[in-house]
Amino acid sequence: MRRASVVVSTTMREDDRAHHFLRERGAYHGDLDVLALAARFEEEMQRGLAGVGSSLRMIPTYIEAHSSVPLETPVIALDAGGTNLRVALVSFAAAGKPVLLEHRLLPMPGVDGEITSEKFFEVFAERLDPFLAGTDRVGLSFSFPTEILPDRDGRIIELCKEVKVSNAPGQLIGRSINAALRRLSRSRTVRVVVLNDTVGTLLAGTTAARAGESTLVGFVLGTGTNCAYIEHNDRIRKHSDLLPGGHQVVNVESGAYAAWDRGQLDLEFDATTTNPGHYVFEKAMAGAYLGPLCRRALVGAAEAGLFSIDAARTLRAQGDLSTSDLSPFLTRGVTGRPGLYADLSRTASAGDLRVAAAIVDGLVERAAKLAAVSLGAVLKRTCSGERAAACVTVDGSTFWRLSTFRERFVRTLDTILGGRTAYHLVAVDHAPIVGAAVAGLTNLALRASAI
Ligand code: BGC
Repeated sequence: MRRASVVVSTTMREDDRAHHFLRERGAYHGDLDVLALAARFEEEMQRGLAGVGSSLRMIPTYIEAHSSVPLETPVIALDAGGTNLRVALVSFAAAGKPVLLEHRLLPMPGVDGEITSEKFFEVFAERLDPFLAGTDRVGLSFSFPTEILPDRDGRIIELCKEVKVSNAPGQLIGRSINAALRRLSRSRTVRVVVLNDTVGTLLAGTTAARAGESTLVGFVLGTGTNCAYIEHNDRIRKHSDLLPGGHQVVNVESGAYAAWDRGQLDLEFDATTTNPGHYVFEKAMAGAYLGPLCRRALVGAAEAGLFSIDAARTLRAQGDLSTSDLSPFLTRGVTGRPGLYADLSRTASAGDLRVAAAIVDGLVERAAKLAAVSLGAVLKRTCSGERAAACVTVDGSTFWRLSTFRERFVRTLDTILGGRTAYHLVAVDHAPIVGAAVAGLTNLALRASAI
């Protein structure tokens, strides 16, 4: 009996020390007022739609979500992400079931060192080429900030996720692919619809929504984060040329949200990234950053004397901590997988391990809360009035694969929504590519992009 109470109080002391450390560094999840944060996020969305100084770009996409897709019609779908370029020939069978007729997974151009924008688009043209006999329709999901034009071509705002292409900002994607096809002496041109991956993820929900769900939302939490939802054209006040009374999908670009208080830990970590001051919301939660942020916190805790000398040495020796290495800290179990948790369990005391786990746990809890704030704000906005239930298609390994993340996220989301909004989270296999195919078939690109 006495033994048990000693264990409990020791654990509590270690959790308290970890929480105290995170609070001092301005990164303690218990200090977040999620209702106030969601209300602030919604205001920032409103400002972005009005075009008055907002960290949320709220990009109109000129894409509408239709309730059905043409069946048995092939379309080329591409998904250009931070690591891979997927290409598939897709068609939809009965009941809108997507069929990937051919599917290739290739490295994303520009991840192995900088290339020119001409070369970048030539790689896209070469990847499309084998499919061109079947169709000239292309849906291209592009996971980078991009302005969409009324003819549904996309103008790159900036590249991120370590994809390096000289002169990328300002390039028109569909037109550049057609120019590359011509340089490569191909006789055909293509009609390209460019869309963000969250927009594709939202459209993939067309194939998964339940009866009675009146709106679609796309949410991505993988290497980066973002969301997309359907907005009334009349509320996109920064554009006066949109069809009155209509609707379209809006890309929030939530990873860039900046109207929240970052603490010292976030500021220090941001300074170590390749784009300080940019995409600061994403840096608190997305797969490219969460592991390294935790490592930064653990090393900081070692410097502040929270660990034994042996544990501090192990922490410093492990140069990297990726988000996929965090799960053992969260489940507190050695998985047999090499990594920092396994190293600490060999070299550090049980107390050290508990402090380390509590720090990682705290930052993952904060990540889940902040991610839920963004989706919660979007759902509150889109599910008002007549649109009462949403099908939220979620894509991304941080959301689906990081242990305990989903449960934490849903808990906060339910707090924010207070039971007033019905939603259903779904996973659709290859969501961005399925959505790109939906867009290529239902939101035709105008010939203008086929210069
Ligand atoms: C990009 C978004 C993208 C998100 C998820 C972010 O880094 O800026 O455009 O949707 O990652 O892939």
